[in-house]
Amino acid sequence: MGHDPGMRPVVVAANWKMHTTPDDAGELARTIARRTGEPSVVRVICAPFVCLAAVRDALVDTDPPVAVGAQNIHHEMQGAFTGEISALMLTGLATWVIVGHSERRRDAGETDRLVGRKLGRAVEAGLRPILCVGELLEDRDAGRAEAVVESQVRGALAGLDPGALEAAGLVVAYEPVWAIGTGRTARGADAAAMAEAIRASAASAGWPHAAGGLPILYGGSVTASNIAEFLAEPAVDGALVGGASLKPDEMAGIVARAALTAQARADPARTS
Ligand code: PGA
Repeated sequence: MGHDPGMRPVVVAANWKMHTTPDDAGELARTIARRTGEPSVVRVICAPFVCLAAVRDALVDTDPPVAVGAQNIHHEMQGAFTGEISALMLTGLATWVIVGHSERRRDAGETDRLVGRKLGRAVEAGLRPILCVGELLEDRDAGRAEAVVESQVRGALAGLDPGALEAAGLVVAYEPVWAIGTGRTARGADAAAMAEAIRASAASAGWPHAAGGLPILYGGSVTASNIAEFLAEPAVDGALVGGASLKPDEMAGIVARAALTAQARADPARTS
């Protein structure tokens, strides 16, 4: 579809899931920041809600900066929703947020429609959203992986203002469910094909620049040893990293490899 990867950022986002505590999160964030100081790579740490303040404080003087993200938000801004956290409440704590992670689709019954409402709240609150999509193993085995993911993208974006989403810097993470936390990964070529399918779906949902500028990350058992396979694909713009994101050595390797891609994009005369 004639896109130019050079115009897209290279992003490495850590998804700490339900790990770390307010006591230890700050130190881990600082260690990761120190070991991954690549100015060409956009780095984000998505920490548990209760750790956001500690991570924010730990990263406040980090140069180059590391962004702080949350892992979920409610689909309303406020109201009688006991135990929930809204996008508005993240003001001053986080600037990014993951929505629609497959673990929430699985455990909290989140539908594409609900995920779309969360996206809307993120945009209204000025948060940069990472929309997660991905097929189940049975979908891939049945040859309908792309159809499932396209429908997740269209379902989540339905009714939202594409211009506002673009201004918010929407990022999509393609995370095949069968690759999350399993040690199995998609093949680089399959991730790239899916990234193009996602851009095509975004374009059909009214994305203003034919979706060429939409950053798409791969997620699912990414490590320092396998990240190169994904970043070798011009259609893939980085990674959403779960288990390995708790390990500074892994993050150092992943971000170092991402920096090669980012530098090659900024200066195509160099090779990645
Ligand atoms: P994983 O998780 O890297 O542990 O597979 C990725 C994710 O769920 O975002």
